[in-house]
Amino acid sequence: MNLQPFLELAIVAAKAAGQIQTNYLGRDLSIESKSVESDLVTIVDAECEQVIRQTILDAFPSHQILGEEGGSVGSSEYVWIVDPLDGTVNYAHGFPFYCVSIALEHDGERVVGVVYDPVRKELFHACRNGGAFLNDQKIKVSSQASLTGRAMLATGFPYDTSTALLALEVFKRFLSLGLPIRRPGAAALDLCYVACGRIDGFFEYKLNAWDCAAGILIIEEAGGQISNFSGSRYEYADKKIVASNTILHQKMLEVIGQEF
Ligand code: IPD
Ligand code: CA
Ligand code: CA
Repeated sequence: MNLQPFLELAIVAAKAAGQIQTNYLGRDLSIESKSVESDLVTIVDAECEQVIRQTILDAFPSHQILGEEGGSVGSSEYVWIVDPLDGTVNYAHGFPFYCVSIALEHDGERVVGVVYDPVRKELFHACRNGGAFLNDQKIKVSSQASLTGRAMLATGFPYDTSTALLALEVFKRFLSLGLPIRRPGAAALDLCYVACGRIDGFFEYKLNAWDCAAGILIIEEAGGQISNFSGSRYEYADKKIVASNTILHQKMLEVIGQEF
């Protein structure tokens, strides 16, 4: 299958949404809460999703779109999975780490992934079996081979406090090894940072499909590995993801252990 038209479209849509995010900086964002007070949504989330949906449907009217804000619309073998603004809490606070994430699945297989960071103007992309790229330069995961203080991991905490405290237990296990761990706040970008070797591994509870669909393909195409906490193939419903440079994957699973 020629994935180029889909990739080009995803890039156009991601950049359009990124431009909206940049344009709104310093303006009234009409901030509201969703599941809990800290789970924010802004007018920018909605506008970004609107422009992405419109861009996709103008080109491929029969395709299905699953977006964080608008849910699933349509039914097709082609499903676009869209996080219009990943890192909304960061964005709403003016903390410059957020992005747009767009993936395309065909018959349940991820085939295109695009993540765009409008702050640094960094565009990550991958097509199945075509490698992974950052601003058109091929990227690969790190070669860090030991889970020691020389490695660096990232994670995030879900909005619900009881799961966040469970995640803290896993966090403590890695911390006790003397590992530096970052909590950047935009899962799609965290995954891309594994793909380009800026971090060596990532784990998180309760991500949704739109947080990780694009990032998973980008990591796999960069030579990394993804699984659930048991080491099996990651399904969105698992809600527990481990991503790594492949070399560290088994070691990360051992640290997490069986009970999580
Ligand atoms: C959130 C971010 C964050 C992660 C949360 C996500 P949102 O997405 O990816 O890093 O820890 O679980 O919900 O709400 O900003 O799109
Ligand atoms: Ca998200
Ligand atoms: Ca979002």
